[in-house]
Order: sequence, then C-alpha cells, then structure tokens
Amino acid sequence: MSRRYLIAGNWKMNGSLSANAVLLSELSLKQDQYSGIDMLVCPPAPYLESVGRQLGGGILLGAQNLSDQTKAGAYTGEVLGEMLAELGCRYVIVGHSERRALYGEDDATVARKFIAAQASGLIPILCVGETLEERESDATEAVLGRQLGAVVAAAGVGAFAKAVIAYEPVWAIGTGRTATAEQAQAAHAFLRGQLAAQDAKIANSTQLLYGGSVKADNAASLLSCDDVDGGLIGGASLKAADFLAICAAAQALSKN
Ligand code: 13P
Repeated sequence: MSRRYLIAGNWKMNGSLSANAVLLSELSLKQDQYSGIDMLVCPPAPYLESVGRQLGGGILLGAQNLSDQTKAGAYTGEVLGEMLAELGCRYVIVGHSERRALYGEDDATVARKFIAAQASGLIPILCVGETLEERESDATEAVLGRQLGAVVAAAGVGAFAKAVIAYEPVWAIGTGRTATAEQAQAAHAFLRGQLAAQDAKIANSTQLLYGGSVKADNAASLLSCDDVDGGLIGGASLKAADFLAICAAAQALSKN
C-alpha cells in the first residue's frame, strides 16, 4: 500500500489573527520532522490568505466549505472554488456533518459541491458518517453507502482519483467519544469496498481519513488500521502540541 498519511486540521469557526499566528509558528517549527506525511490546515475562510502566507509551503492549506456554483455571479455570501484555489488552497472539506445537520446540506448539494471543488482544481475531502441513532439501529452501512453513493453517481468513481473521504461518525465529533479501531476499520473497509466494486485501482489509492475526537492518545491505534490513511482533526488541531503529537503518530507509522 502506498497511500501517504494525511493529517488535516479542521479549525471550524475558531481562531483569530493573533491566535493563528502563534499556532502556525509552532507548527512551522516542527514540520520538518514530519516529511513522511502530509499536513493540512483548514482555517475559516477570512483567514485563508494570511494563513497561506505564514505556512510558506511545507504545510498544505484547505478550506472548510465552498459554493456549489461553478461560475462567479450574484450569489451573496458564497465563495467560489476558484477563489479558494487562487488563495493557495489545495483541499476543501465538503459535506461535513455540521453543514449537513445545521445548514441543511443534503446529498445532492454535497455532490454539487464535490464537483464544483474538482472543477476548480481543489481536492474535495468528502465527509460521511452516521448518527448514534443510525448506528444503534444497524443502519451505519446503509447511511455510508447512501452518502458516498450519491457522490459516486453524480461525479463518477473516476473522480475519486483526486478526492479524499473522511469517515466521521457524528456521535464521535466533539464528544470525546471515539470510534474504536475496529469500528473505524470496519467503516473504512466498507467505504473502500464501495469504491472497489466499481474500480479497484481507484479504491486502493483513495485516502480515507478518520475524524471524531482524534487525540494524541488514540491516534496511533486508529492510524494503524489498514484502511485508515489519516485523520480529520477538530478540537485537537487548535493546540500545536496536540496536533503535532497526532502528526508524530502518523510519521512513526509511515513507511516514508
Ligand atoms: P473533533 O476532533 O473535535 O471531534 O472534530 C472532528 C471533526 O468534526 C473534524 O472535521
């Protein structure tokens, strides 16, 4: 398996110019130690330009959201993918459960955003995941299959050659409750299997991240699962020491 680890920080709606500068200077000091993995930060949109300037290149830049529109125009409050690319973003998160639950994004919207991201040259990080109720009613695979299937149907399996999938069980996000390594591996294997049913080569190359209360002390066990190729980190990405400890766990497991 030649998939590289990707450790991505989703800052969500957190940060300030001064707090970002402190966090980034601490990350930059250590980034050389993690040359075997990819490190990514996804700050709120207003900070993308200044964060991009401070990163200088070693750590990658991503956005948390984009418009589903593919051309500039009268869409007040929206951000076009090309604008994100112009600021140096390589990645953009789409379909995060907070956007699905709080801002009404359905599978069709998420699929349009995924396509819009790729049309702008951005790598979408497609988030999927079940609620606690869905897990407890044995609907996890049905939900993951539906969420991924909607994007595969709209964009084609070939699109996953340039996409990342993040499995984020909703019940593990910001709760301190983490999926066990077995639960994460099972979900990731299911997702990879869904892609493999259509294209084995693409399935084998697509990076699958786990997200949901990843911390320094559980990172190694999650990242050592065969089908876990990195993490999408919320709370722990806001503290340099915590984020770096997760990067160190990935680096230690990396073959690079
Ligand atoms: P936490 O790491 O804070 O649980 O958040 C996970 C997440 O939602 C990343 O996108």
